[in-house]
Amino acid sequence: MDSYQSVIDRIARSGGVVMLIGGLDSGKTTLGRSLARSGMQAGHTVAFIDADLGQKTVGPPACAGLRMLRGEADLDSGAVLDPDEIYFVGATSPQGQLLPLVVGAGRLLATALEQDAGLVIVDTSGLVSGVYGQILKYHKVEQLRPDVVIGLQRGEELDPILGIIRRFFSTDVITLPVPAEVRSTSVEERAVRREEAMRRYFGVPLQRWRVKPTVFMPALPALFDQAQLDRLLVGTSDGEGSYSGIGYLEHSPEEGVLRLISPVADAPKALKLGSVRVDPDFRTRRVDLRNLFGTD
Ligand SMILES: Nc1ncnc2c1ncn2[C@@H]1O[C@H](COP(=O)(O)OP(=O)(O)OP(=O)(O)O)[C@@H](O)[C@H]1O
Ligand SMILES: [Mg+2]
Repeated sequence: MDSYQSVIDRIARSGGVVMLIGGLDSGKTTLGRSLARSGMQAGHTVAFIDADLGQKTVGPPACAGLRMLRGEADLDSGAVLDPDEIYFVGATSPQGQLLPLVVGAGRLLATALEQDAGLVIVDTSGLVSGVYGQILKYHKVEQLRPDVVIGLQRGEELDPILGIIRRFFSTDVITLPVPAEVRSTSVEERAVRREEAMRRYFGVPLQRWRVKPTVFMPALPALFDQAQLDRLLVGTSDGEGSYSGIGYLEHSPEEGVLRLISPVADAPKALKLGSVRVDPDFRTRRVDLRNLFGTD
């Protein structure tokens, strides 16, 4: 079996698109950062695509984010990096968001390649089991066609997914054991980190725009009570195919109007509805838009 360091050295030399797969706390992000650092040292332009929606390395929560790394200093602080591009997915976990997550990862890879990235690291969520985990990873590989998939595994939990990738694609699949040093994160710690990321994003001067009911994707049903959109997370579109950021909606019962609260500098052209509400304490609660709309 390959050793951890030999895989890093090999990929730092070869470059290409590398996708990291593993369950929660399997060392994906740490390996991604090591790969990025070694890739930069080897002279590659390195792109980091963070397709984990909850525990962010690049950009705001509920989005996939791309950072064209500027230098090793980007990796030194451990802070969440400012994105060069984001794709709003709409929730802080992939459940129910497989389509936007896969499409978004594809968009970000296209941008990274346009920017002449020689090494692209794709960090992913820990959803690796069950039908949805397999469907998600299969379609992500289909969309991104990585040169290398690295699976970080404890036992045999990745065997189904990695087996599928080996059978369907010519991608080089490497397995590594989860490093012994990996520290696990409790459910509470993850929730706190998600809240902190949300609080940090909204902890800057905010704009408050009045929102017309016609700007949404998906479109609101006829006779829809806009009060139901109160505190719903949204992605702000620049109208040119990119998301400028995220925001949340606020419904004022006195005025009967809807406002967008967001730090983005320019008034968005359109808003994509997310599938979570952001509470005043920046906790998120899931919302199923089909239930909210009373449609299929
Ligand atoms: N090779 C390593 N050497 C030392 N510590 C490590 C190593 N890999 C991971 N860790 C530590 O283990 C913890 C979890 O690692 P990491 O965040 O990379 O895992 P992950 O799979 O990305 O987790 P998540 O599911 O939250 O995305 C971190 O505190 C990290 O510093
Ligand atoms: Mg991670």
